[in-house]
Amino acid sequence: MLLPCPALPAPTLAALTSLGHWLRARGYGPGRVSRALGILAWNGPDLDGEWWARDNHAEGDLGALVDLFVRGQPLPARKAEALLPKEAWGAGILVERRGDVLAEGIILPLGADLVWTDRGDRSFHKGGLFLPDSTSFELRRLIPPQRVRRHLDLGAGGGAITVAAARRAEETVALDINPRGGEAVQRTMALSNLSGAVAYSGEAHEARALGRFDRLSFVLPLLVPWHGMASAGPEHTISASSDLLVQVLEMLPSLMSPGGLVLLYTQDWAGGPPLPMVLDLVMEGRAWRGAYWWDQQGTWGKRPVRTGCLALRLDGGRGFVEQKNEVPDEGVEDWWPHMAAMLGESGATN
Ligand SMILES: C[S@@+](CC[C@H](N)C(=O)[O-])C[C@H]1O[C@@H](n2cnc3c(N)ncnc32)[C@H](O)[C@@H]1O
Repeated sequence: MLLPCPALPAPTLAALTSLGHWLRARGYGPGRVSRALGILAWNGPDLDGEWWARDNHAEGDLGALVDLFVRGQPLPARKAEALLPKEAWGAGILVERRGDVLAEGIILPLGADLVWTDRGDRSFHKGGLFLPDSTSFELRRLIPPQRVRRHLDLGAGGGAITVAAARRAEETVALDINPRGGEAVQRTMALSNLSGAVAYSGEAHEARALGRFDRLSFVLPLLVPWHGMASAGPEHTISASSDLLVQVLEMLPSLMSPGGLVLLYTQDWAGGPPLPMVLDLVMEGRAWRGAYWWDQQGTWGKRPVRTGCLALRLDGGRGFVEQKNEVPDEGVEDWWPHMAAMLGESGATN
């Protein structure tokens, strides 16, 4: 059932926002935190393994913050009290245990954002929140810079994409089947000094009740095990069938505003005929152009399946192009111009 997530109390949100300012002022950003963990690029496949458990090479205050907010290490309470600002204690994310202080999740710095989600120890279990990986980063990079009125982030998890979308939309709606997602999205937004996102828990197909949107994003759970992950992975990462992709495609005509843009990270197989044919079937006569920028190849059963970014522009002509994504991960933050060119657009479109 589609349910709005209860709003966190205003003082908690204010404390999270202050903590976000304080962390950034101390250099807690993607560059320094990734270097502390010996990760060359914060946006590459390095983040597909157990990166949060790497050795911490940072010393001093930054070293302690990386231990607390990334690696999940306890800090002696006296050290935490001396280090953290008083607002941190009202943010609802610290727990005290036997004279130590722990953070209940991870604060992942991505670009200008601070994303709150589960650490690996909880993320990979039932009910866990997805820990953003290179699939999330790919979709973050594809959101066009032009502002739109309404953005829907399906399968929002801890809000890694919601928060990037919210910087480019007047209203952002986050929806996830995991009831823990709404609280995490609110924390992510507040830590990143943003407001204007509304979170729901429910099934993706229930988004039909939320009106029309100018943009939609969804990193779907995939058929193909990702980077050697066991095929029996957590349900937010590995999917048992292509039904969810079909559900999402089927609701596009009633969900998307004229000229709307759909950005999915997905496999290229919706369970039946080739993807362009499925899209023609579901679009109910609306024109659409599609571009599939794939980057991984695997198999599902005996069937070859690729995964990558699928962009669909509604009402703007017809056509479907595919290309292997060979753009290096490092130092490339904006992929929209390339995807726009694949869609036959100038890049100045929204
Ligand atoms: C691969 S994760 C992506 C999470 C987040 N967008 C990110 O990139 O960090 C997929 C998300 O889809 C959610 N999900 C799975 N099935 C769903 C469904 N039927 N309806 C809504 N959300 C669903 C999962 O709970 C999970 O949070």
